[in-house]
Amino acid sequence: MTVAHAAELLSAARRGLALTGAGVSAESGIPTFRGEGGLWTQYDPVKVASIEYFMADPSAYWKVSKDRGRVALVARPNPGHHALAALEANGHLAAVVTQNTDGLHQESGSRHVIEVHGSSRTVQCLDCGNREPRREVQARLEVEMPPRCKVCGGVFLKPTVVLFGEPLPQAAIQEAFSLAHEADVMLVVGSSLVVYPAAEIPLVALRYGAKMIVVNAEPTPFDELADVVIRGKSGEVLPEIVALTGG
Ligand code: APR
Ligand code: ZN
Repeated sequence: MTVAHAAELLSAARRGLALTGAGVSAESGIPTFRGEGGLWTQYDPVKVASIEYFMADPSAYWKVSKDRGRVALVARPNPGHHALAALEANGHLAAVVTQNTDGLHQESGSRHVIEVHGSSRTVQCLDCGNREPRREVQARLEVEMPPRCKVCGGVFLKPTVVLFGEPLPQAAIQEAFSLAHEADVMLVVGSSLVVYPAAEIPLVALRYGAKMIVVNAEPTPFDELADVVIRGKSGEVLPEIVALTGG
């Protein structure tokens, strides 16, 4: 019933909006932050992913990012990413707003992707502004901790992701909220919905009349607000929904 109901809502959607979190990339091998086996069950996010601690000691960030980067750099889109790209191609989704920084939505064919927490594919030097691909920095981490900027030798090389205590990219967040105002269906996938302002996006969509579908492996704070809640793995559930929306 719930997959069929979600498919019915999405088939009728012309301005659908998806909000994704780490759960949509879990089946690509990238660990989530919360929930079972999440990164924040092993590390204190403030100590390893806040700008304040990063500026005090970039190594603490890079020691965690080194392992995560090794996995993320070889991760490939999973059927959940492809299903979201299909929903966009078939005119049911206007965009995917993602909290993820792994680039897998773009790689799977989604064309309108709004990265509200930035991208981990690029690294920027906070001293001189030099940018280089994260892949190149990964190669140096075995022998250089923290990695140094190739131009100025500085140690404040930071992926272009939003750390705790940093502002979100204004253009991205504004676009996400404006699409939320217009959305007819809000599809939330693989997020614990505890980090703001990203978690506010579905609430705005609801306030402006959107129907909401939540696909998540564990309960979320928004489940009772949703029209449809599907407990499961996005890589399995989303293709089922797409199949029922007529591809
Ligand atoms: N399919 C669907 N949901 C899944 C799957 C899966 N295969 N695997 C895990 N989940 C669910 C988990 O149950 C959890 O509720 O995905 C959710 C992931 O939640 P988080 O790890 O908190 O990720 P997210 O919501 O994206 O975190 C938001 O917090 O640390 C910051 O910047 C980081 O962007 C991140 C933000
Ligand atoms: Zn530099």
